[in-house]
Amino acid sequence: MSNDKKTMIVTPWEVSGEVDYDKLIVNFGTNKLTEELKQKMAKYAGFLHPQLRRDVFFSHRDLDWWISNYENDKKVGLYTGRGPSGDVHLGHLLPWIFTKYLQDAFDADLYFQMTDDEKFLVKENLTLEQAISYTYENALDVIACGMKVGKTFIFSDTEDIAQIYKLGLKVSKKITLSTAKAVFGFTDSDNIGLTWYPALQAMTCFLQSDREKQNIPCLIPAAIDQDPYWRVTRDIAEKLGFYKPAQIHGKFLPGLQQGGKMSASQPETAIFTTDTPEIALKKVMAAFTGGRETIKLHKELGGNPEICNIYAYYYFLFEEDDKKLYEIEAGCRSGNLMCGECKARLGKKIKEFLIDFQKKREKAKDNLQDYFLKEMK
Ligand code: TRP
Repeated sequence: MSNDKKTMIVTPWEVSGEVDYDKLIVNFGTNKLTEELKQKMAKYAGFLHPQLRRDVFFSHRDLDWWISNYENDKKVGLYTGRGPSGDVHLGHLLPWIFTKYLQDAFDADLYFQMTDDEKFLVKENLTLEQAISYTYENALDVIACGMKVGKTFIFSDTEDIAQIYKLGLKVSKKITLSTAKAVFGFTDSDNIGLTWYPALQAMTCFLQSDREKQNIPCLIPAAIDQDPYWRVTRDIAEKLGFYKPAQIHGKFLPGLQQGGKMSASQPETAIFTTDTPEIALKKVMAAFTGGRETIKLHKELGGNPEICNIYAYYYFLFEEDDKKLYEIEAGCRSGNLMCGECKARLGKKIKEFLIDFQKKREKAKDNLQDYFLKEMK
Protein backbone atom coordinates (compact mmCIF):
# COMPACT_ATOMS: atom_id res chain seq x y z
CA MET A 1 0.00 0.00 0.00
CA SER A 2 1.38 3.41 -0.92
CA ASN A 3 1.71 6.09 1.71
CA ASP A 4 -0.97 8.09 -0.03
CA LYS A 5 -3.48 5.35 0.42
CA LYS A 6 -2.77 5.18 4.10
CA THR A 7 -3.38 8.87 4.73
CA MET A 8 -6.42 9.23 6.94
CA ILE A 9 -9.33 11.10 5.43
CA VAL A 10 -12.51 11.47 7.49
CA THR A 11 -15.13 13.83 6.08
CA PRO A 12 -18.91 13.50 5.70
CA TRP A 13 -18.31 12.32 2.11
CA GLU A 14 -15.18 10.28 2.35
CA VAL A 15 -13.61 7.95 4.87
CA SER A 16 -10.36 6.33 3.80
CA GLY A 17 -6.96 5.27 5.03
CA GLU A 18 -6.25 3.92 8.47
CA VAL A 19 -8.46 5.77 10.91
CA ASP A 20 -6.69 6.95 14.05
CA TYR A 21 -9.55 7.62 16.44
CA ASP A 22 -7.41 9.21 19.15
CA LYS A 23 -6.15 11.67 16.60
CA LEU A 24 -9.71 12.51 15.54
CA ILE A 25 -10.54 13.39 19.15
CA VAL A 26 -7.70 15.91 19.05
CA ASN A 27 -8.35 17.17 15.51
CA PHE A 28 -12.09 17.59 16.00
CA GLY A 29 -11.75 18.89 19.55
CA THR A 30 -14.04 16.29 21.13
CA ASN A 31 -13.73 14.41 24.42
CA LYS A 32 -12.94 10.80 25.08
CA LEU A 33 -15.85 8.90 26.56
CA THR A 34 -15.06 8.37 30.24
CA GLU A 35 -15.71 5.30 32.33
CA GLU A 36 -17.99 7.40 34.51
CA LEU A 37 -20.19 8.39 31.56
CA LYS A 38 -20.35 4.81 30.33
CA GLN A 39 -21.48 3.71 33.77
CA LYS A 40 -24.16 6.38 33.82
CA MET A 41 -25.58 5.13 30.54
CA ALA A 42 -25.42 1.59 31.88
CA LYS A 43 -27.26 2.67 35.01
CA TYR A 44 -30.24 4.03 33.11
CA ALA A 45 -30.23 1.31 30.47
CA GLY A 46 -29.92 -1.53 32.95
CA PHE A 47 -26.78 -2.85 31.23
CA LEU A 48 -23.52 -1.69 29.74
CA HIS A 49 -23.89 -1.93 25.97
CA PRO A 50 -21.16 -3.97 24.23
CA GLN A 51 -20.56 -0.98 21.96
CA LEU A 52 -19.61 1.02 25.08
CA ARG A 53 -17.62 -1.76 26.68
CA ARG A 54 -15.60 -2.09 23.49
CA ASP A 55 -15.26 1.62 22.72
CA VAL A 56 -17.20 1.44 19.46
CA PHE A 57 -18.75 4.64 20.76
CA PHE A 58 -15.67 6.40 22.03
CA SER A 59 -16.01 10.17 21.96
CA HIS A 60 -18.52 12.87 22.86
CA ARG A 61 -19.37 16.51 23.36
CA ASP A 62 -21.55 17.60 26.27
CA LEU A 63 -22.89 14.12 26.93
CA ASP A 64 -22.46 14.79 30.66
CA TRP A 65 -24.66 17.87 30.31
CA TRP A 66 -27.29 15.95 28.35
CA ILE A 67 -27.42 13.19 30.95
CA SER A 68 -27.56 15.63 33.85
CA ASN A 69 -30.63 17.21 32.28
CA TYR A 70 -32.25 13.81 32.27
CA GLU A 71 -31.22 13.34 35.90
CA ASN A 72 -32.91 16.62 36.73
CA ASP A 73 -36.14 15.32 35.25
CA LYS A 74 -35.86 17.35 32.09
CA LYS A 75 -37.03 15.86 28.84
CA VAL A 76 -34.15 14.93 26.51
CA GLY A 77 -34.18 14.08 22.81
CA LEU A 78 -32.20 12.11 20.24
CA TYR A 79 -31.38 12.81 16.62
CA THR A 80 -29.71 10.72 13.96
CA GLY A 81 -30.11 10.20 10.25
CA ARG A 82 -29.29 8.50 7.00
CA GLY A 83 -28.43 9.52 3.47
CA PRO A 84 -30.68 7.16 1.49
CA SER A 85 -28.61 6.36 -1.57
CA GLY A 86 -28.91 2.58 -1.60
CA ASP A 87 -29.55 -0.45 0.54
CA VAL A 88 -28.59 -0.43 4.20
CA HIS A 89 -25.57 -2.46 5.32
CA LEU A 90 -24.31 -3.64 8.69
CA GLY A 91 -22.08 -0.58 9.04
CA HIS A 92 -25.18 1.63 9.01
CA LEU A 93 -26.94 -0.51 11.59
CA LEU A 94 -24.17 -0.15 14.14
CA PRO A 95 -25.12 3.38 15.33
CA TRP A 96 -28.84 2.67 14.95
CA ILE A 97 -28.60 -0.31 17.26
CA PHE A 98 -26.89 1.95 19.76
CA THR A 99 -29.48 4.68 19.23
CA LYS A 100 -32.21 2.22 20.16
CA TYR A 101 -30.32 1.48 23.39
CA LEU A 102 -30.25 5.20 24.19
CA GLN A 103 -33.90 5.63 23.29
CA ASP A 104 -34.87 2.90 25.72
CA ALA A 105 -32.51 4.07 28.46
CA PHE A 106 -33.56 7.72 28.45
CA ASP A 107 -37.13 7.35 27.23
CA ALA A 108 -36.30 9.88 24.53
CA ASP A 109 -38.05 10.84 21.33
CA LEU A 110 -35.91 10.16 18.27
CA TYR A 111 -35.91 12.39 15.22
CA PHE A 112 -34.57 10.48 12.25
CA GLN A 113 -33.69 12.50 9.15
CA MET A 114 -33.65 10.92 5.69
CA THR A 115 -31.54 13.20 3.54
CA ASP A 116 -32.76 12.23 0.10
CA ASP A 117 -32.05 15.82 -1.00
CA GLU A 118 -28.41 15.56 0.08
CA LYS A 119 -27.85 12.26 -1.70
CA PHE A 120 -29.48 13.53 -4.88
CA LEU A 121 -27.20 16.57 -4.83
CA VAL A 122 -24.03 14.62 -4.07
CA LYS A 123 -24.38 11.53 -6.23
CA GLU A 124 -23.81 11.81 -9.93
CA ASN A 125 -25.97 8.85 -10.88
CA LEU A 126 -28.81 8.89 -8.38
CA THR A 127 -32.15 10.33 -9.50
CA LEU A 128 -34.27 12.22 -7.01
CA GLU A 129 -36.99 9.61 -7.37
CA GLN A 130 -34.56 6.83 -6.51
CA ALA A 131 -33.29 8.68 -3.44
CA ILE A 132 -36.86 9.20 -2.22
CA SER A 133 -37.73 5.56 -2.72
CA TYR A 134 -34.67 4.60 -0.65
CA THR A 135 -36.00 6.85 2.11
CA TYR A 136 -38.93 4.45 2.56
CA GLU A 137 -36.87 1.32 1.95
CA ASN A 138 -34.26 2.37 4.50
CA ALA A 139 -36.91 3.43 7.01
CA LEU A 140 -37.85 -0.26 7.23
CA ASP A 141 -34.32 -0.97 8.45
CA VAL A 142 -34.53 1.78 11.05
CA ILE A 143 -37.79 0.36 12.35
CA ALA A 144 -36.41 -3.19 12.31
CA CYS A 145 -33.75 -2.04 14.78
CA GLY A 146 -36.56 -1.82 17.32
CA MET A 147 -37.20 1.90 17.49
CA LYS A 148 -40.31 2.80 19.49
CA VAL A 149 -43.47 3.69 17.68
CA GLY A 150 -44.91 6.99 18.90
CA LYS A 151 -41.45 8.10 19.99
CA THR A 152 -39.68 7.82 16.64
CA PHE A 153 -40.19 10.46 13.98
CA ILE A 154 -38.67 9.67 10.62
CA PHE A 155 -38.90 12.28 7.90
CA SER A 156 -37.81 12.83 4.33
CA ASP A 157 -36.17 16.15 3.56
CA THR A 158 -38.01 16.33 0.27
CA GLU A 159 -41.40 14.79 0.96
CA ASP A 160 -41.83 16.35 4.39
CA ILE A 161 -40.27 19.69 3.52
CA ALA A 162 -43.32 21.66 4.65
CA GLN A 163 -42.68 20.53 8.22
CA ILE A 164 -39.03 21.55 8.27
CA TYR A 165 -38.49 24.38 5.81
CA LYS A 166 -39.25 27.29 8.09
CA LEU A 167 -36.80 26.13 10.74
CA GLY A 168 -34.28 25.28 8.02
CA LEU A 169 -34.51 28.84 6.71
CA LYS A 170 -33.91 30.31 10.15
CA VAL A 171 -30.82 28.15 10.49
CA SER A 172 -29.55 28.95 6.99
CA LYS A 173 -29.67 32.67 7.68
CA LYS A 174 -27.09 32.20 10.43
CA ILE A 175 -24.54 30.24 8.37
CA THR A 176 -22.36 32.21 5.98
CA LEU A 177 -21.02 30.85 2.73
CA SER A 178 -17.47 31.39 3.96
CA THR A 179 -18.14 29.23 7.03
CA ALA A 180 -19.62 26.49 4.85
CA LYS A 181 -16.64 26.67 2.51
CA ALA A 182 -14.15 26.53 5.36
CA VAL A 183 -15.84 23.63 7.14
CA PHE A 184 -16.99 21.50 4.21
CA GLY A 185 -14.45 22.50 1.59
CA PHE A 186 -17.05 23.61 -0.97
CA THR A 187 -15.61 25.15 -4.11
CA ASP A 188 -17.05 27.37 -6.79
CA SER A 189 -17.69 24.40 -9.03
CA ASP A 190 -19.98 22.68 -6.50
CA ASN A 191 -23.70 23.03 -7.12
CA ILE A 192 -25.45 25.59 -4.93
CA GLY A 193 -27.79 22.97 -3.49
CA LEU A 194 -24.87 21.46 -1.62
CA THR A 195 -23.99 24.72 0.05
CA TRP A 196 -27.52 25.09 1.41
CA TYR A 197 -27.91 21.49 2.52
CA PRO A 198 -25.91 21.80 5.81
CA ALA A 199 -28.63 24.13 7.10
CA LEU A 200 -31.13 21.28 6.90
CA GLN A 201 -28.89 18.75 8.63
CA ALA A 202 -28.27 21.32 11.38
CA MET A 203 -31.98 22.18 11.60
CA THR A 204 -32.95 18.78 12.98
CA CYS A 205 -30.95 19.45 16.14
CA PHE A 206 -33.63 22.00 17.03
CA LEU A 207 -36.67 20.36 15.50
CA GLN A 208 -38.08 18.79 18.64
CA SER A 209 -37.57 22.02 20.61
CA ASP A 210 -39.24 24.01 17.87
CA ARG A 211 -42.22 21.67 17.62
CA GLU A 212 -42.76 21.40 21.35
CA LYS A 213 -42.07 25.07 22.01
CA GLN A 214 -39.62 24.38 24.80
CA ASN A 215 -35.88 23.91 24.80
CA ILE A 216 -35.07 20.20 24.78
CA PRO A 217 -31.45 19.02 24.99
CA CYS A 218 -30.59 17.03 21.87
CA LEU A 219 -28.02 14.24 21.65
CA ILE A 220 -26.76 12.93 18.32
CA PRO A 221 -25.46 9.36 18.22
CA ALA A 222 -23.65 8.99 14.89
CA ALA A 223 -20.37 7.96 13.33
CA ILE A 224 -17.71 10.60 13.77
CA ASP A 225 -17.54 11.58 10.07
CA GLN A 226 -20.66 13.74 10.56
CA ASP A 227 -18.96 15.91 13.16
CA PRO A 228 -18.33 18.97 10.92
CA TYR A 229 -22.09 19.54 10.79
CA TRP A 230 -22.32 19.63 14.56
CA ARG A 231 -19.47 22.09 14.91
CA VAL A 232 -21.30 24.53 12.65
CA THR A 233 -24.58 23.88 14.46
CA ARG A 234 -23.08 24.43 17.88
CA ASP A 235 -21.76 27.82 16.77
CA ILE A 236 -25.19 29.11 15.80
CA ALA A 237 -27.48 27.32 18.28
CA GLU A 238 -27.58 29.99 20.94
CA LYS A 239 -28.09 32.76 18.40
CA LEU A 240 -31.36 31.04 17.57
CA GLY A 241 -32.30 30.54 21.20
CA PHE A 242 -31.59 26.79 21.31
CA TYR A 243 -29.16 24.63 23.26
CA LYS A 244 -26.01 23.42 21.54
CA PRO A 245 -26.56 19.80 20.46
CA ALA A 246 -24.55 17.13 22.27
CA GLN A 247 -22.84 14.31 20.41
CA ILE A 248 -21.71 10.77 21.01
CA HIS A 249 -19.40 9.55 18.25
CA GLY A 250 -19.01 6.04 16.89
CA LYS A 251 -16.34 4.22 14.93
CA PHE A 252 -16.75 2.72 11.46
CA LEU A 253 -17.35 -0.93 10.87
CA PRO A 254 -14.49 -2.16 8.67
CA GLY A 255 -15.25 -3.55 5.23
CA LEU A 256 -14.85 -7.25 4.53
CA GLN A 257 -11.94 -6.58 2.21
CA GLN A 258 -8.64 -5.06 3.21
CA GLY A 259 -8.65 -1.39 4.32
CA GLY A 260 -11.43 1.21 4.60
CA LYS A 261 -14.92 1.02 6.05
CA MET A 262 -17.84 -1.04 4.85
CA SER A 263 -18.94 0.74 1.72
CA ALA A 264 -22.13 0.53 -0.29
CA SER A 265 -20.29 1.55 -3.44
CA GLN A 266 -18.17 -1.60 -3.15
CA PRO A 267 -20.77 -4.35 -2.63
CA GLU A 268 -18.20 -7.08 -1.98
CA THR A 269 -17.02 -5.18 1.11
CA ALA A 270 -20.45 -4.94 2.68
CA ILE A 271 -23.26 -7.14 3.93
CA PHE A 272 -26.59 -5.58 3.13
CA THR A 273 -29.70 -6.20 5.21
CA THR A 274 -31.35 -7.27 1.97
CA ASP A 275 -28.67 -9.82 1.02
CA THR A 276 -29.85 -13.40 1.05
CA PRO A 277 -28.17 -15.37 3.83
CA GLU A 278 -26.37 -17.38 1.12
CA ILE A 279 -24.87 -14.31 -0.50
CA ALA A 280 -23.85 -12.97 2.90
CA LEU A 281 -22.11 -16.24 3.68
CA LYS A 282 -20.23 -16.09 0.38
CA LYS A 283 -19.00 -12.58 1.15
CA VAL A 284 -17.82 -13.69 4.58
CA MET A 285 -15.98 -16.67 3.16
CA ALA A 286 -14.19 -14.38 0.66
CA ALA A 287 -13.21 -11.81 3.30
CA PHE A 288 -9.74 -10.58 4.19
CA THR A 289 -8.42 -12.13 7.42
CA GLY A 290 -5.39 -11.87 9.65
CA GLY A 291 -4.42 -15.44 8.88
CA ARG A 292 -1.16 -16.71 7.32
CA GLU A 293 -0.72 -17.72 3.70
CA THR A 294 -0.77 -21.44 4.41
CA ILE A 295 -2.32 -23.66 7.06
CA LYS A 296 1.13 -24.87 8.01
CA LEU A 297 2.41 -21.34 8.60
CA HIS A 298 -0.78 -20.41 10.42
CA LYS A 299 -0.34 -23.34 12.80
CA GLU A 300 3.30 -22.47 13.38
CA LEU A 301 3.08 -18.70 13.72
CA GLY A 302 -0.55 -18.00 14.56
CA GLY A 303 -2.74 -15.29 13.02
CA ASN A 304 -3.17 -11.61 13.77
CA PRO A 305 -6.67 -10.63 14.98
CA GLU A 306 -5.71 -6.95 15.07
CA ILE A 307 -5.75 -6.69 11.29
CA CYS A 308 -8.48 -9.28 10.74
CA ASN A 309 -11.86 -8.18 9.40
CA ILE A 310 -13.56 -11.36 10.50
CA TYR A 311 -12.38 -10.76 14.04
CA ALA A 312 -13.62 -7.16 13.74
CA TYR A 313 -17.11 -8.42 12.97
CA TYR A 314 -17.15 -10.55 16.08
CA TYR A 315 -15.84 -7.60 18.05
CA PHE A 316 -18.27 -4.97 16.70
CA LEU A 317 -21.45 -6.95 16.39
CA PHE A 318 -21.51 -10.70 16.50
CA GLU A 319 -19.89 -11.90 19.72
CA GLU A 320 -21.22 -10.05 22.72
CA ASP A 321 -19.75 -12.46 25.24
CA ASP A 322 -16.30 -11.15 26.21
CA LYS A 323 -15.09 -14.57 27.23
CA LYS A 324 -16.00 -16.13 23.90
CA LEU A 325 -14.46 -13.22 22.06
CA TYR A 326 -11.25 -13.76 23.98
CA GLU A 327 -11.29 -17.44 23.04
CA ILE A 328 -11.47 -16.50 19.37
CA GLU A 329 -8.60 -14.07 19.78
CA ALA A 330 -6.42 -16.53 21.69
CA GLY A 331 -7.27 -19.37 19.28
CA CYS A 332 -6.23 -17.22 16.34
CA ARG A 333 -2.98 -16.04 17.91
CA SER A 334 -1.97 -19.55 18.93
CA GLY A 335 -2.65 -20.89 15.44
CA ASN A 336 -5.21 -23.41 16.69
CA LEU A 337 -8.19 -21.66 15.16
CA MET A 338 -8.11 -21.73 11.36
CA CYS A 339 -9.56 -18.91 9.25
CA GLY A 340 -11.90 -21.25 7.41
CA GLU A 341 -13.52 -22.37 10.63
CA CYS A 342 -13.61 -18.87 12.08
CA LYS A 343 -15.30 -17.52 8.94
CA ALA A 344 -17.82 -20.35 8.86
CA ARG A 345 -18.80 -19.65 12.48
CA LEU A 346 -19.22 -15.96 11.77
CA GLY A 347 -21.12 -16.76 8.59
CA LYS A 348 -23.56 -18.82 10.62
CA LYS A 349 -24.13 -15.98 13.08
CA ILE A 350 -24.65 -13.46 10.30
CA LYS A 351 -27.06 -15.80 8.58
CA GLU A 352 -29.15 -16.14 11.72
CA PHE A 353 -29.05 -12.40 12.26
CA LEU A 354 -30.23 -11.71 8.71
CA ILE A 355 -33.09 -14.18 8.86
CA ASP A 356 -34.38 -12.55 12.03
CA PHE A 357 -33.75 -8.99 10.83
CA GLN A 358 -35.46 -9.57 7.50
CA LYS A 359 -38.58 -10.79 9.30
CA LYS A 360 -38.69 -7.60 11.35
CA ARG A 361 -38.04 -5.58 8.22
CA GLU A 362 -41.00 -7.20 6.46
CA LYS A 363 -43.21 -6.59 9.45
CA ALA A 364 -42.26 -2.92 9.47
CA LYS A 365 -44.13 -2.52 6.18
CA ASP A 366 -47.42 -2.94 8.05
CA ASN A 367 -47.15 0.30 9.94
CA LEU A 368 -44.41 2.28 8.24
CA GLN A 369 -46.44 5.48 8.30
CA ASP A 370 -46.82 5.33 12.09
CA TYR A 371 -43.10 6.10 12.33
CA PHE A 372 -43.19 9.14 10.07
CA LEU A 373 -43.30 12.73 11.28
CA LYS A 374 -46.76 14.32 11.33
CA GLU A 375 -47.76 17.96 11.62
CA MET A 376 -48.05 19.07 15.26
CA LYS A 377 -51.68 19.45 16.29
N1 TRP B 1 -25.42 13.18 6.16
C1 TRP B 1 -25.77 11.87 6.62
C2 TRP B 1 -25.37 10.81 5.57
O1 TRP B 1 -24.95 11.11 4.50
C3 TRP B 1 -27.23 11.73 6.93
C4 TRP B 1 -27.61 12.41 8.21
C5 TRP B 1 -28.43 13.51 8.37
C6 TRP B 1 -27.17 12.06 9.51
N2 TRP B 1 -28.55 13.82 9.66
C7 TRP B 1 -27.78 12.97 10.40
C8 TRP B 1 -26.34 11.05 10.01
C9 TRP B 1 -27.57 12.89 11.78
C10 TRP B 1 -26.12 10.99 11.37
C11 TRP B 1 -26.73 11.91 12.25
O2 TRP B 1 -25.48 9.66 5.83
